[in-house]
Amino acid sequence: MSQKSLAAVALALATATSTVVVPAPATAASNPIFRTLLQPGADETQAIVSWRTNAHGAAEKLEVTGPDGTQTFDAQEKNAGALLYKSNYATATGLKENTTYSYRVGSDEGGWSEPQDYTTGSFGEDWSFITVTDAQIGVGTDIKEQTTQWQNTIGNAVADVPDAEMIWSLGDQVEGWGAPVAQYDGYFSAPEIRRVPTNALPGNHELYASPAELKHYDEHFLNPNQEEDIRDFYFERNNVLFIGLDTNASSEKDIARHEEFLRKTIAERGKSNDWVLVGMHHSFFSQGTHYTDADVTRLREQLAPVMSELDVDAVLGGHDHIYTRTHLMNGLTPVEAEAKRGDVLEPNDGEVLYLTTTTAGGGKYYDFQGEDGKKYPKARFETIDKSLQHPSTALWRQDYTEDYMKVDVTGDKLTFTTYNANDPSVVDKVSLTNNDRAELSDAPSSPSSPTSAPSSAPSEPAPSSEPAEPAPSSAPHEPVETTVTTTAQVTKVVTSTKEGPTPEIVTSTKVEPVPTTITTTVTPAAKPSDEVVPAEVDPKADTCDGSGKGSAQGSSEKCGSSTGGIVAAVVGTLAALLAALGVGYAATTVREGDRAPSWLPKPLHGLYNRFF
Ligand SMILES: [Fe+2]
Repeated sequence: MSQKSLAAVALALATATSTVVVPAPATAASNPIFRTLLQPGADETQAIVSWRTNAHGAAEKLEVTGPDGTQTFDAQEKNAGALLYKSNYATATGLKENTTYSYRVGSDEGGWSEPQDYTTGSFGEDWSFITVTDAQIGVGTDIKEQTTQWQNTIGNAVADVPDAEMIWSLGDQVEGWGAPVAQYDGYFSAPEIRRVPTNALPGNHELYASPAELKHYDEHFLNPNQEEDIRDFYFERNNVLFIGLDTNASSEKDIARHEEFLRKTIAERGKSNDWVLVGMHHSFFSQGTHYTDADVTRLREQLAPVMSELDVDAVLGGHDHIYTRTHLMNGLTPVEAEAKRGDVLEPNDGEVLYLTTTTAGGGKYYDFQGEDGKKYPKARFETIDKSLQHPSTALWRQDYTEDYMKVDVTGDKLTFTTYNANDPSVVDKVSLTNNDRAELSDAPSSPSSPTSAPSSAPSEPAPSSEPAEPAPSSAPHEPVETTVTTTAQVTKVVTSTKEGPTPEIVTSTKVEPVPTTITTTVTPAAKPSDEVVPAEVDPKADTCDGSGKGSAQGSSEKCGSSTGGIVAAVVGTLAALLAALGVGYAATTVREGDRAPSWLPKPLHGLYNRFF
């Protein structure tokens, strides 16, 4: 069979697998409008709303009602090639600070979405936002469970940071393999993303089981100022320049394109803002297993020096499902300093902070991987042999629970506080002082967003000349200097496979052709409370060791739970592997740091390492 034919068969299999297990979107039947998403616009005076509609022929609009009356903004179609629905979006402009609006989308002819409130925040220099990453709904076919956990994480985050003006989702919103429609339905089921503008980066799982799956991402996520040839984009909010890079593009040519985009964007907009933040899915520096991946290594070695040269303040990423904070990095060289929670760092020119956050969906965690290439399940920062840490690492934490990060912005300081999503404990807190305040009065005006839809209302920027009030300290999660807690929040049935006999190498993955699948029940953890209760790691909380018992040697990946989903997972995985073979973009060489299980034929180790 030719490679092309193989790919066609594989993709057909993948599609068939998806078709079998996808339930109908819950909201589609009752309302012609579904999957509505509120997103940041090119600046704080704009907001983008995207949605799907079953009203094919209707000329739909975004209707925004505020204290000054109602404005309408014409919808544009983001054609995803679907036959049963259309994907639309519109951009509201002229929004004013600290104002509550009600918006809806649709038409009199085809019907309207339920009205949704959106309160803009301060347009001054003191404000807050939330980051999450790797909700990855659908790992191990646990769509329902991970949807619940995603709702829990983002719900707690927004409740704890009620003045958050934005959510930045750093990729892998869904698993991609298997049932992407149901997975996206799970992601969109969180109501918070309809009232807090949410921008999402593409992660590697957004293009599984084939790059064609990026259609799901592209139809929903409308990134301001996105380049036409690559999904790199930027937007500005108050005093921060946000730059998003699509690190799925990681060839030499792609990296040169990223560098070009960074140089151009920061030259044009950097000095207009107090801070420059770069978001990307593939974290350059972390203690997870992706650190040694060829694409991550290539991106790190070539772009970290550029980040320093361009005076980026911080780079935020995911992909590795383990919290990691670097030292200040001058290119690839760490500025050594002892790290502890609450650090206030005073970077010099060219010194960049890199932060990796763990999963918001809880489906998968990566063990600490040392400089020796070995995994250390259940290792703790306090007790690990520091020579095993990468030289770049300042502080890390793997407590196998979901996290989110709050970012507090002022003109003088940027503070990143990472919380356990399930209780009020602080995983880490680190601040940067500003060594190059923007001269806003000299800044050129912001260009308009290429994704902005034609508007029937005049654009009315509302810059604030008054300093904003500091964010109210109503969030219950004040920093707590205590041993971080770790609990499993949900009762779940997990299944896994264990490789033997080597005790320290344990693999837990749906790729395995089920040599010994054993089901075990995980003990439910305590309900989250308002108090921080230090706890030891429960060795049984998240292992999938195949023994039926928790094991300190077990992999920390939470594996598939649904017995009914195993067949679909195996078929989907086979199809995905064939697809990957067909499109031929996976590396096939076995390299140092190989994570593939020993039973897998050597020629497939490269594929395994590329995708898992
Ligand atoms: Fe990822």
